[in-house]
Amino acid sequence: MSVSPNRNPQTPAEEGSTSKLPRHVAFIMDGNGRWATARGLPRTEGHRQGLEALRRAIRHAGKVGIEVITIYSFSSENWSRPETEVSFLMGLLRRFVQRDLSELHDANVRIRIIGGRSDLEPGILALLEEAEDLTKNNTGLNLVVAFNYGARAELVRAAQKLSQKVLSGEIRSEDISEAAITDALDTSGLPDPDLIVRTSGEMRLSNFLLWQAAYSEFYFCDQHWPDFDEAAFDEALSCFGSRQRRYGGVDAKAL
Ligand code: FPP
Repeated sequence: MSVSPNRNPQTPAEEGSTSKLPRHVAFIMDGNGRWATARGLPRTEGHRQGLEALRRAIRHAGKVGIEVITIYSFSSENWSRPETEVSFLMGLLRRFVQRDLSELHDANVRIRIIGGRSDLEPGILALLEEAEDLTKNNTGLNLVVAFNYGARAELVRAAQKLSQKVLSGEIRSEDISEAAITDALDTSGLPDPDLIVRTSGEMRLSNFLLWQAAYSEFYFCDQHWPDFDEAAFDEALSCFGSRQRRYGGVDAKAL
């Protein structure tokens, strides 16, 4: 796959900014199974086509100049799916990293992994860490892969990290601030998602980026993820562009 190198990502849509391009878009790539079932195909075919849609989304994000995309590729709750589907998804992730890594690296994409690592199969963990390591100095699009990810588990890990620091005397309990919690999360150093897109008609967060989504805009569409193409992505971006973000304040024009 080819991704346009995004070498100028430092123009963030910060609070109060008039920039209409989201700095960070997060995707809940839902509906692979339904896409396949509607065509009389096995669910795994939906995931295979979902990977193609993901490649398109990465390419398009690089092209339009988005700084970060986060993809919910496997949740900590997805382990409860049938064993055959879980192992298919693991294989798909392996193939994605093995086949696309060098091209993503050449396109200046930086890969970050969020989610629980301690219970991952060592082979998968090594592959994911290799992808992070190889691309760590890249300065283009940040591709954040949420794998074995659940937001509540992420918050528990952050609370454990901070309580360890208090116990060791490195910080005091009064030092636990919003910034300290943000910093202790897997997403440390990344901007919060400006826009969260969920396909396939479902309207919920499903334990995705609960802390980080405090001021995110939400966009839900009926397409199943394998049908999410460049035009659908542009539609989501255009909808985001028409939103008024007030962060709890009041629109200056209303005063
Ligand atoms: C949700 O659709 C999708 C997933 C749980 C997996 C997402 C995976 C991909 C888009 C492929 C790329 C994958 C990797 C690992 C890089 P669903 O199966 O819940 O669909 P349904 O709600 O219609 O059953």
